[in-house]
Amino acid sequence: IKTIRDMEVTGKRVLVRVDFNVPLDQEGNVTDDTRIRAALPTIQYLIDRQARVILASHLGRPRGKVDDRYRLDPVARRLSELLGRPVVKVDDCVGDEPKRAIAGMQPGDVVLLENVRFYPGEEKNDENFARQLAELADVYVNDAFGTAHRAHASTEGVAHFLPAAAGFLMEKEITVLNQALSNPSRPFVAILGGAKVSDKIGVIENLLGKVDALLIGGGMANTFLAARGYALGKSLVEADRVALARDLMTRAEKAGVKLVLPLDLVVAEAARPEAEPRVVAVDSVPEEWMALDIGPKTVETFAAEVRDAGTVIWNGPMGVFEMAPFAAGTFGLARALAESKATTLVGGGDTAAAVEKAGVAGRMSHISTGGGASLEFLEGKVLPGVAVLMDRGK
Ligand code: 3PG
Repeated sequence: IKTIRDMEVTGKRVLVRVDFNVPLDQEGNVTDDTRIRAALPTIQYLIDRQARVILASHLGRPRGKVDDRYRLDPVARRLSELLGRPVVKVDDCVGDEPKRAIAGMQPGDVVLLENVRFYPGEEKNDENFARQLAELADVYVNDAFGTAHRAHASTEGVAHFLPAAAGFLMEKEITVLNQALSNPSRPFVAILGGAKVSDKIGVIENLLGKVDALLIGGGMANTFLAARGYALGKSLVEADRVALARDLMTRAEKAGVKLVLPLDLVVAEAARPEAEPRVVAVDSVPEEWMALDIGPKTVETFAAEVRDAGTVIWNGPMGVFEMAPFAAGTFGLARALAESKATTLVGGGDTAAAVEKAGVAGRMSHISTGGGASLEFLEGKVLPGVAVLMDRGK
């Protein structure tokens, strides 16, 4: 893949697609600036080389219409603080207003365009809209790994009309994940959690051919436990996926993959912060109760796998960690990864947040800025935003 290092940028107008799709609070302040900080190396590199830096991003899902709730002004403010220099926010992303602002830029200046999803052409990957974006710049850099699974005008279309390369974040995400999937230090352990099996089928299928062990926790483990014949009370079980879970277990066995399910669970009468939970073995879930976290024996079992691993990939929390009574499983696992000598890769917005909340984010080898993008990567798919860079780099 061609990267920003292979590109002449000095004095050039560089359109950089970043993923500044960050959470905002009621007052419109950025509550988690991880994705903004992750793009700083690319932005700083361009500033240092006296490029004219034109940033483009989406925020939320405004569905092709101008919506004040999804303007990028709060992001511009935060970025300006982080860079320690002014960031000019433009209230449109194509047409006269950005053109005027860009014409007035000095080398090393930074402009942030308005939300590209205010135009329907963005998500439609409309060629005209992509050309309008391309008109603003001399070269294009894609650093938005988190949006690389979307074939949109600012992530895919525009790359056909300008010299195109990957930014440092994009390069790092792809390199780290590729290395793990194609040439991992072994044992290679994958841990999957989250509510639903249905979200992870593609990932499981792809990983069965690669990993040595697959640990399954979170709500999705219930469906596997049901497939083993356990009664799980009121727990979330995807009844229409039980057969599939059984089939996946058979395939794991055939592939020589050790599939590890919870031994014990934290159960409560409801998923409420004031609930009084109990720890039970998987064969003893009371009829009116539901599983909301993995139990301590399971944490210990998973931690033992992680301790001896060469590579660990983790996607999806082990329980409802946002509520204190059901956080111990996810946080315990996060600590186990932090203490392991393995290369530890964490993907998915929820899992990244959990690792942060557990206070061990700095001890992971890599935390992906991609949620959906990292999942599709683990499914073995070529992401459209990456594919076009590979193509254009030839
Ligand atoms: C994400 O947060 O996963 C990316 O920014 C993509 O956002 P989307 O799911 O709205 O396309």
